[in-house]
Amino acid sequence: MTEKRLETKMLHSGYAGEPQFGARAVPIYETASFLFGTAEEAARRFSEHDINKIYTRIGNPTVAVLEQRLADMDEGLAAVCYASGMGAISTLLLALLKEGDHIVVSNTLYGGTVSFFSDFLPRFGIKISYVDINKTDEITAAVNKNTKLLYAESIGNPKLNLTDLEEVSKITKEHNIPFVLDNTVTPGIFKPFKYGVDIIVYSLTKYISGHGITIGGAVVDSGTMDWRRKFSRLSVDTPPFHSAKYGNMSLIDQLKITLYQTGACMSPLTAFLILQGLETLPLRMEKIGENALKIAEFLKNHSKVNWVNYPGLKEHPQYSLTEKYFSEYGPSGLLTFGVKGGLEAGKNLINNVKLCSLLANIGDAKTLIIHPASTTHFLISEEERQETGVTDDMIRLSAGIEAADDIIEDLNSALNSI
Ligand SMILES: Cc1ncc(COP(=O)(O)O)c(C=O)c1O
Repeated sequence: MTEKRLETKMLHSGYAGEPQFGARAVPIYETASFLFGTAEEAARRFSEHDINKIYTRIGNPTVAVLEQRLADMDEGLAAVCYASGMGAISTLLLALLKEGDHIVVSNTLYGGTVSFFSDFLPRFGIKISYVDINKTDEITAAVNKNTKLLYAESIGNPKLNLTDLEEVSKITKEHNIPFVLDNTVTPGIFKPFKYGVDIIVYSLTKYISGHGITIGGAVVDSGTMDWRRKFSRLSVDTPPFHSAKYGNMSLIDQLKITLYQTGACMSPLTAFLILQGLETLPLRMEKIGENALKIAEFLKNHSKVNWVNYPGLKEHPQYSLTEKYFSEYGPSGLLTFGVKGGLEAGKNLINNVKLCSLLANIGDAKTLIIHPASTTHFLISEEERQETGVTDDMIRLSAGIEAADDIIEDLNSALNSI
């Protein structure tokens, strides 16, 4: 069969019906463990690494369909799902790293990831260098003999900065370290493996689930890393996992072993819910990109707005990277803008919107809004906020799929009332 296009794969990949009842929808195998039938069958499943039919912490058929579909979405080798995006990120790092290792990390990342890197990993003897991901000299200077990976986001949050990933990947290839990219904000619309990324992580909670109904995460592996030179850990041979030492399934095996040991597994019901979202991902991402651009164009001409940051605007300083990486669907749905009157005006705006939902999430089908300085970033000093790009007047909006004119009317009336 010829390789299908994204829209088709998101509806069909990994599942063609089941033999017992012929259920068209992916069945929810909501069970902790699976009957073996006979002692011989039990032994066979363990020895042949049939890990989706033993115990749900290490594998489950409903979760396996989602894993296959995500791997196909990114044209990767395989994927492993987790209880949350943070579950995916932490398990990946725990699977790859050991005491004494060092990692190079972009300095514009989601706060939970920063907290895991800065607070959790150093307690286990892992060193971190934060770099400006747009400065290749800085990245090169940060890499040393203990460096085991480089970590960045496709669009940094909250600065919404883009990265020339192809340039960055030249450095990781030269040093034979994996380039790990959080593609949460641009799933499906952007194919990181084409540009030299080796491993993708996702919070499935956002655009992929798409309806704000559940929490999940995933790691997708390209299968292209040569692990032999720097990752002795990936030679582990632990039944019931694959025993292909240093083969292209080495990382996936190690992720499953770490899942077996740490337990941040995805529930089958969650996998089912996320599969429903994934079916419409390409449609939603297209509409979200269109809406975000219309909203950004409207805001930049409003008298109560000081500035607008959306990488899809032609005047955005990194618009050339938008054209290089996001020309088909646009650079997703996140935008930030500054209201005249600072913190108080920002809070006022939030109190006056009616259609936009005030909450701490992104990537819903509904438009979401938040004032970071008084909520998600209220604990850090004003100086630190400036460094991370969270100014007092900043509003973050995650465009949904409502009619663009309705979102704009809501913002217009709220802005006019402050
Ligand atoms: C870019 C990014 N990565 C990872 C995460 C963590 O995902 P989760 O909330 O599913 O654990 C988030 C959550 O906000 C995020 O925005």
